[in-house]
Amino acid sequence: MVAIPNELIELLSEANHVAVLTGAGISAESGVPTFREAQTGLWSRYDPEQLATPEAFANNPRLVWEWYDWRRQLVSSVEPNTAHYALAEMAARVPKFTLITQNVDGLHQRAGSDGVIELHGNIVRTKCFDCGRIAYNVQELQETSGQVPPRCEYCAGLLRPDVVWFGETLPADALNRAYDASRNCDLFFSIGTSGLVYPAASLPAQALSQNIPTVEVNPQSTPLSGAMTFILAGPAGELLPQLVALAWPHSSQETE
Ligand code: OAD
Repeated sequence: MVAIPNELIELLSEANHVAVLTGAGISAESGVPTFREAQTGLWSRYDPEQLATPEAFANNPRLVWEWYDWRRQLVSSVEPNTAHYALAEMAARVPKFTLITQNVDGLHQRAGSDGVIELHGNIVRTKCFDCGRIAYNVQELQETSGQVPPRCEYCAGLLRPDVVWFGETLPADALNRAYDASRNCDLFFSIGTSGLVYPAASLPAQALSQNIPTVEVNPQSTPLSGAMTFILAGPAGELLPQLVALAWPHSSQETE
C-alpha cells in the first residue's frame, strides 16, 4: 500500500489553487488503453503514433477515420472511474482548481468536472481538415453520402476528429491557460502521464520553476519523477480517493 505523506495532505487541504495535469493513465482503470501500451484486437498491428498524424490521414483518411470511430465507440462504452470522480470532488473543495488534460476521451467532463482545459482536443468533436469548421451533423452527412470520412458541407474538405495530431500545434488559448495555472497554483499534480509528449510534459517544470510543490501519481516512474516533490507510485483510481478522504475527512463523511 502506498503511504500518503502528511505534508501533502496538509498542503492539499490548505491550498487555494490546485492545478492538475492528466494523461491516458487516469482512464486506464475505466478500460481505455493508454497510448504506449499494446493495443488489442483489430487495431493491434497499428502504432497510434503512426495513425495520429496529418500525414497518415492524408495517405489513408478512411483508415484513420475508422480508427477514431473504434476509439469513439470504446470511450462511449466505458464509464469514468474513481480517479475522475475524486478530481471532480477535489474541485468542489479547493477555492480554485484547474484541470488540464491531454486526454481526448471526455471522461473528466462525464465525471462532473467543469472548465477542463483540453490540450489535445476531444474525439467526439469533428472538424474539416481543410477549412477547420466544426461539423455538427456528422452522422447525417455520413448516412446521406455514404462517404468515409464524410465531407465538409462548406468546402467539401474531408472531415477529421478535432484532436491534436503529432506535428500539429496545440490550441494556443488552452496552452496559455495551462501555463498560467501551472505557474500560479500552490500545488501541482501530474497524474497518469508518461511525460514524453511536449509541450504538456513541460507543465510540471513550470510549477517547479516557481517553487510550487509537485506530485506525481503513476505506478511507473517517468522522466518527470526525479524532479517531483512527492511521488505516489500506484493507480490513480485508488490513490486519489484516499487523498481526498484524508484531506477533507469531515466533508467525505458528510457526502457518504
Ligand atoms: P501514455 O500512454 O504515454 O502514458 C500513460 C501513463 O499512465 C504511463 O506512464 C503509465 O505508467 C501510467 N498509468 C497506467 N495506469 C495508470 C493508473 N491506473 N494510474 C495512474 N497512472 C497510470 O499516455 P500520455 O502520457 O497521456 O498525444 O500520452 C501523452 C500523449 O501522447 C497523448 O495525449 C497522445 C499521445 O500520443 C496526442 O495524441 C497528441
